[in-house]
Amino acid sequence: MKRGHLLHSNVTVLALVTLTSFVQQRGLCIADSDTGAPGDAISCDLRSGTCDPLIGRRHNASVSFQVSHDTGVCRCPGAGGSCYGDCGRKFDAAEVATVETFKYGRFETRLFPDLRANGTLVAFFLYKNDSDKVPGTSWTEIDFEVHGMGKHSAEPIQTNIVTGNMGRRTLSEMFLAAPRHRKNMNAQMKAIKDSFHHFAIEWTPSYVSWYFDGHRLRHEVSCDARGADAEECSPQVARLNKAMNLRMSVWPLDPSMPWAEHWAGIFDRKNAKLPLTVYYDYVRVYDYEPFSKGFTLRWTDDFSGLNTSRWTASTHTFLGNEAHFRPERAVIAGSNATDANGYLTLSISRAEDDIAISAPQDSESYSKKFLPAVRREYRMPCIFSAPS
Ligand SMILES: *[C@@H]1O[C@H](CO)[C@@H](O)[C@H](O)[C@H]1NC(C)=O
Ligand SMILES: *[C@@H]1O[C@H](CO)[C@@H](O)[C@H](O)[C@H]1NC(C)=O
Ligand SMILES: *[C@@H]1O[C@H](CO)[C@@H](O)[C@H](O)[C@H]1NC(C)=O
Ligand SMILES: *[C@@H]1O[C@H](CO)[C@@H](O)[C@H](O)[C@H]1NC(C)=O
Ligand SMILES: *[C@@H]1O[C@H](CO)[C@@H](O)[C@H](O)[C@H]1NC(C)=O
Repeated sequence: MKRGHLLHSNVTVLALVTLTSFVQQRGLCIADSDTGAPGDAISCDLRSGTCDPLIGRRHNASVSFQVSHDTGVCRCPGAGGSCYGDCGRKFDAAEVATVETFKYGRFETRLFPDLRANGTLVAFFLYKNDSDKVPGTSWTEIDFEVHGMGKHSAEPIQTNIVTGNMGRRTLSEMFLAAPRHRKNMNAQMKAIKDSFHHFAIEWTPSYVSWYFDGHRLRHEVSCDARGADAEECSPQVARLNKAMNLRMSVWPLDPSMPWAEHWAGIFDRKNAKLPLTVYYDYVRVYDYEPFSKGFTLRWTDDFSGLNTSRWTASTHTFLGNEAHFRPERAVIAGSNATDANGYLTLSISRAEDDIAISAPQDSESYSKKFLPAVRREYRMPCIFSAPS
């Protein structure tokens, strides 16, 4: 039996009580699952158009989903809970993703993570599209984030690898402080959130590394890599074997999530000072060269405009995201600056508020913006000359 039928038959009962186009009540939602039988039941709270079986299972918390008045179908798109269209969010936010996918490489950005509100975060990450939703596929994600405040304000840099699948995810989340600064909220705020910083992810078959301003913050060696230390190695790295899109986003966390307080913190719906804007000066993508184990530049985007052949702006939201991603919240600012380059700006605002985005304070000269690469990591690719 197809999962769609299961879904439909179980929720028509709820749809009968629909008053507006979407009902808001508790009910039974059928979720996709990789581990359970298709159509595993989870308990849901009809609130904002999303549901996530993970939350229901782990925390036995009520989970949001939506029943359409017209079709009677529960909009529970499965694991991950993406929602497109009208999802009942009262805030807007933004995400852009590359159109192309990459398998291995080095990914750099120069980012001003100007976020000081509880429950907000900015991300620069690699993610296999929909890998959290399509049953049977493996979840593939490498995260690099800065959290606004919340639980980790003394070490606001988040790094994570997500593998496994929807039913059984493996995370290896680590929070880190900016090196050479004291591990308290104020020192870290100064060190990270007052200006632009350089972020880089290196992803190869044998390791994943995260760099902040040229300092390697974290290094995970694959257990399959030659000479890997069996105690220290990461079994997740070998599972990152699917092509991923590079993404950037900013969003507020739904404060009703049971884990909100222990993660990015409680977003203050009423008093948060909005809009909040983060700025990306450029993105550089390098290909991984398997022979030399080095990287070669594939492209640089310095955001003199938003190149729509390269970037796509997201139009969805998901469980845990208090906002809806809108293309209008991803705009280029400051493209008339003296160096002729602009900034990609991503903002959080109240839904449909008019907001004005100006160029960020950026005191560095253009030549200094492109940090020298970490030398040891940059070997020239081998040049093979064919025998004549
Ligand atoms: C979830 O919690 C409710 C009460 O809060 C309880 O009745 C139910 O048995 C729990 N379900 C699971 C699967 O633990
Ligand atoms: C942020 O959250 C912390 C911990 O819950 C709280 O003490 C603090 O007042 C909050 N800050 C703001 C600006 O709301
Ligand atoms: C991801 O997949 C969805 C469909 O499931 C599609 O609408 C979206 O454009 C894709 N995003 C990227 C970045 O490929
Ligand atoms: C826009 O992106 C495409 C795809 O990456 C690239 O081929 C093209 O050169 C870019 N255009 C500009 C003006 O940079
Ligand atoms: C840049 O200059 C052009 C032409 O003068 C103008 O139309 C545009 O609005 C300016 N953009 C910004 C971001 O100032």
